Amino acid sequence: MSAILEVRHVTRRFAGLVAVSDVSFTLEQGDIVGLIGPNGAGKTTLVSLISGTLAPSAGDVLFQGEQINRLPAYRRARLGIGRTFQIMRPFPGLTVLDNVAVGALFGYGGGQAQLQQAREQARACLDFVGLGRYAGQRAEELGGPGRKRLELAKAMAMQPKLLLCDEVMAGLNHVEIDEVIEVIRKVRAQGISILVIEHVIKAIKSLSDRLLVLHHGEKIADGAPDAVLSDPAVVQAYLGKKRR
Ligand SMILES: Nc1ncnc2c1ncn2[C@@H]1O[C@H](COP(=O)(O)OP(=O)(O)OP(=O)(O)O)[C@@H](O)[C@H]1O
Ligand SMILES: [Mg+2]
Repeated sequence: MSAILEVRHVTRRFAGLVAVSDVSFTLEQGDIVGLIGPNGAGKTTLVSLISGTLAPSAGDVLFQGEQINRLPAYRRARLGIGRTFQIMRPFPGLTVLDNVAVGALFGYGGGQAQLQQAREQARACLDFVGLGRYAGQRAEELGGPGRKRLELAKAMAMQPKLLLCDEVMAGLNHVEIDEVIEVIRKVRAQGISILVIEHVIKAIKSLSDRLLVLHHGEKIADGAPDAVLSDPAVVQAYLGKKRR
């Protein structure tokens, strides 16, 4: 196995606040790594440092062995880093299909891809996440669960090698969560490596090969899910507290 992603001593400050503090980890090719931690722990910030929507204050991000910290988000997308957004902002006025086609044009296929091809790609991604029958609707007509799937379809349309999922199960019921878990398993079956942020412990435990825990921006645990979830420091920091 070789690492597709290597995060080395990455720190991100916002004014006086250290949102991510000296975090290091590797993600092996083909693995699903779960990222957990209390609200405000720095999870979304870490994903943004990997996808390039934020620059690190210190440290390095390597993708397939290449240092990428200075590359803008669109260049990282073309290298094969796709992400979903916790705050979903579908392009209003565009159909569900064209929202996903934008992902196809922005991502790995980018540049030369024509709109027609992008739409074909988008249709396949909508079918993949189970949104095929909503293709012609306006994106803003989708409810919360539909928007979560739309985020996944958009990210998949970028043809990522590494998919970063930021709370794609938040607000879903048990049946919907199981369906999204199945979609993520299908993504992995395509050989795509995945970093998944999730508060639903049962879901993250069943999906992840490894778990990372952030607390106040610091990595406090990294290892096999069972070991991490029974680590007293993790229980104290995270599991003992009620969410929101
Ligand atoms: N753009 C920003 N400017 C200033 N502070 C920020 C910014 N983005 C995040 N923060 C702060 O950084 C810390 C980490 O935020 P982050 O969104 O990464 O946490 P999180 O682990 O994703 O939390 P949640 O579980 O609520 O999504 C928080 O204190 C947050 O207020
Ligand atoms: Mg977050």
